[in-house]
Amino acid sequence: MSKMAAVMESGEDAFKQLFKFYKRRKPPPDFSDVIDFSGKVCTGKVDPIQLSPRAVSDAAASSVGLRPVRDWRAFGLQGFPGFIFISNPFQRGSQPFWIRQCLKTYPQKPNVCNLDMHMSPCDTKDIWERSVHSLSVLTCSSPSAPRRHEKSLLERLRWVTLGYHYNWDTKLYSADNYTPFPADLQSLSQQITLGCGFSDFRPQAGILNYYRSDSSLGIHVDESELDHSRPLLSFCFGQSAVFLLGGKQRQDPPTAMFMHSGDVMVMSGQSRLLYHAVPRIVPSPPGLLTSELQNPPSPPNQQNQNTPTEKSSVLEPVSERDWTVCLGYIQSSRINVTVRQVLGAEQNFPHS
Ligand code: SIN
Repeated sequence: MSKMAAVMESGEDAFKQLFKFYKRRKPPPDFSDVIDFSGKVCTGKVDPIQLSPRAVSDAAASSVGLRPVRDWRAFGLQGFPGFIFISNPFQRGSQPFWIRQCLKTYPQKPNVCNLDMHMSPCDTKDIWERSVHSLSVLTCSSPSAPRRHEKSLLERLRWVTLGYHYNWDTKLYSADNYTPFPADLQSLSQQITLGCGFSDFRPQAGILNYYRSDSSLGIHVDESELDHSRPLLSFCFGQSAVFLLGGKQRQDPPTAMFMHSGDVMVMSGQSRLLYHAVPRIVPSPPGLLTSELQNPPSPPNQQNQNTPTEKSSVLEPVSERDWTVCLGYIQSSRINVTVRQVLGAEQNFPHS
């Protein structure tokens, strides 16, 4: 019996079955059906995609740490029009900046995080500074060092929201729950969408998810945005994940793919409102993280010696101290950033 036939037999919907299959610990699942875009893709399900290299100058791409668009390895999936997978388009050495932003900068006020739900603003004011000591000790300590018992705030971080802050209870965005969207992430998102052929994407909301090695993200559709004609972007950093992309119905069997550090996904068009989930975090393939991240803290263009015609870089150097903490964190964790346009060009929130 095929794996799919076996999972369909029990009566649960196809998505739930495959989710449970990949989440299972004992015995561990067989990952041989999981598409790995970082290697040679020859599953018969994947098509290379031509992007729009002329829509983004090399300088504009480099200003956010991306390689020239002509060098991006982009793929589509048969049966999923509008879905684009870009296998790590980042320049070597630029991911550390984005990882540092996700861990040190974006969790800061006025952005909102899970810790705000049960802690006072004063206690969540400086998550980074209040965590670095214990995380640096953890990173530098020998295996025989005594284990810490209390988790740092950074280790307890599960999500951060940006821009129009997603309300997890009502599943709504609102005009009065907004803080400025980070300019650097806005610029990165715009270069990605321009390269993919979308000329007027406006990043208005972001959700960062922080995964430990045993975390998962349940089956869902991102439909709270008011305009679904705009793409949704997803950036991954740190450890890898199995990502499941299904159909419009839970009965539609999903496709499994690995997401590695630096990978970017675009869900647009007919693939914008599909069920998806992350059943499992998996260790990054040997060497993949070290080859991408071993030479910080010196992102390309950090000196900002741009000629007048060049776009100035958003990247800043990552200090050795910051990078030690980030590296310790991502050794066992994954960060995902989704960026969304909430409102159409002339659209407003309905009056409540
Ligand atoms: C999401 O669907 O919101 C995040 C998916 C991921 O973590 O890759």
